[in-house]
Amino acid sequence: MTRPTFAYIDLQALQHNAQWLKHQCKGSKLMCVVKADAYGHSLALVAPALADIADGFAVAHSAEGIELRALNADVPILILEGAFEPEDVELAYQYRLTLALTNIHQVNDYLARPSQQRPSVWLKVDTGMHRLGLSETQLTTLCESHQLPADTVIFTHFSDADTDAIKTRLQLAKLTELGRRYGLGMSAANSPACLHYPESHLDWVRPGYAIYGGCPFDTLDPNLQPVMKVHTRIHSIRSLQSGECVGYGSTWCAQQPTRIATLPIGYADGYPRSIKSATPVWLHNRSVPIVGRVSMDLITIDVTQVPQAAEGDLVELWGDNIRLHTLAQHNDLSGYEIMARIPKRLRRSSDWLL
Ligand SMILES: Cc1ncc(COP(=O)(O)O)c(C=O)c1O
Repeated sequence: MTRPTFAYIDLQALQHNAQWLKHQCKGSKLMCVVKADAYGHSLALVAPALADIADGFAVAHSAEGIELRALNADVPILILEGAFEPEDVELAYQYRLTLALTNIHQVNDYLARPSQQRPSVWLKVDTGMHRLGLSETQLTTLCESHQLPADTVIFTHFSDADTDAIKTRLQLAKLTELGRRYGLGMSAANSPACLHYPESHLDWVRPGYAIYGGCPFDTLDPNLQPVMKVHTRIHSIRSLQSGECVGYGSTWCAQQPTRIATLPIGYADGYPRSIKSATPVWLHNRSVPIVGRVSMDLITIDVTQVPQAAEGDLVELWGDNIRLHTLAQHNDLSGYEIMARIPKRLRRSSDWLL
């Protein structure tokens, strides 16, 4: 029998989010960020579903780009980290990937090729994140000494678009000054900027998290629907006497006679080990608390208040009722990280499997 634990990938919700973002950012092209296996949602499910909505896709490195090229023969694909070695520039040319030039070595490897064998490029400029990107001086030298393809775009990445308007506007001003100076296409907006800074939309927007229904701000955005919905079924139920404890380290002990249900999902399935007791799951149309420590394959919940709970009953870990955003917030975790750490072990399907 198959273990009844899986992540339902709701492609209608995905398409809704992408369409909604496209509408919010109308006038700009939509580059959907699908690195890290589409933020844990499965590139093979997500890329075809977005094919008619996205104007382009962004991934982190060449291998991800080649995997995506096999799924979509025509769409523009941006490699955000650029080439790690000269071979990656050749691969980008062969597979028609657009390479980010993010440091001077990447610029040199790109310029070392004959001009008719160069891939398209986006020039990343460091406007304040101080992680990747050319300095203004490096960019100036490149643009003033070399003929770049007409489709070249200059882009940057915001460090604080979810929290700091002053820094975000400063970064944007640096980018647009350079973009205008050299007559280049421009791109800056990640998810929070798509939602809060219309002036940052420019030629291309690059949302990732919001496409998957993640909300980058403190409060949920009702326009964004969750895409990943993780479910399982109750494995076993037992009764504890007052004073008996549950799980590793006996971190939670019953204060009264208690019914405990065990669920076949744990941190090896991507349900974080640091999730605390009292975090809710959804059972029989109500929230029910986790008790005890999350172990590798199992968690335990207190179903004393749900007398009808029985082995085999469906439980939502996160999805429509328990929003990943809220789960992450209550446990001081990042929704981005939970999504991106979903392991192969957790089956992901756009068909309902339970
Ligand atoms: C360069 C770049 N652009 C866009 C994004 C998308 O950001 P978000 O998922 O916050 O929309 C990322 C994500 O890390 C990124 O690194």
